[in-house]
Amino acid sequence: MDEAKLRDIPLFGKLSRKQRKLLALRADEVDVQPGKIVCRKGESANELYVIEQGTAKVVRDEQYLDELGPGDFFGEMGLVDDAPRNANVVATTPLTLMILNGPALKELEREHPKLALRIRRTIEQRRHWLEPAL
Ligand code: CMP
Repeated sequence: MDEAKLRDIPLFGKLSRKQRKLLALRADEVDVQPGKIVCRKGESANELYVIEQGTAKVVRDEQYLDELGPGDFFGEMGLVDDAPRNANVVATTPLTLMILNGPALKELEREHPKLALRIRRTIEQRRHWLEPAL
């Protein structure tokens, strides 16, 4: 994928151009139709997704949890915790997603501890919202 697209994603805001180029080489990109379930609760987690364009909703059973948009990421909980997906993430518009697999995420976190910390903080917050339902 194109390194320039990573510039607008807050998670990658502190990376240098060279680092973004490396990351772009490790990442994939996919277009998704509205209504498609990108993450399905209970399934195993192999990827983290970053929204480049479009919106998605997070739903756990019948409970609506959040709406995600450009720059937001999802799928990190299952991947980092090596656990089944906690919720469904469903495209609400056409989506363009950046995809990072487990090894690529591990490498990125190793190289950029602050980025790893940011992902972990997000997990903590999201877990907080999930807990009443657990
Ligand atoms: P994961 O559990 O791998 O798959 C479902 C994803 O939904 C999860 O990772 C998070 O990225 C996202 N998610 C879960 N709970 C919330 C929440 N409360 N708010 C926003 N996103 C969430």
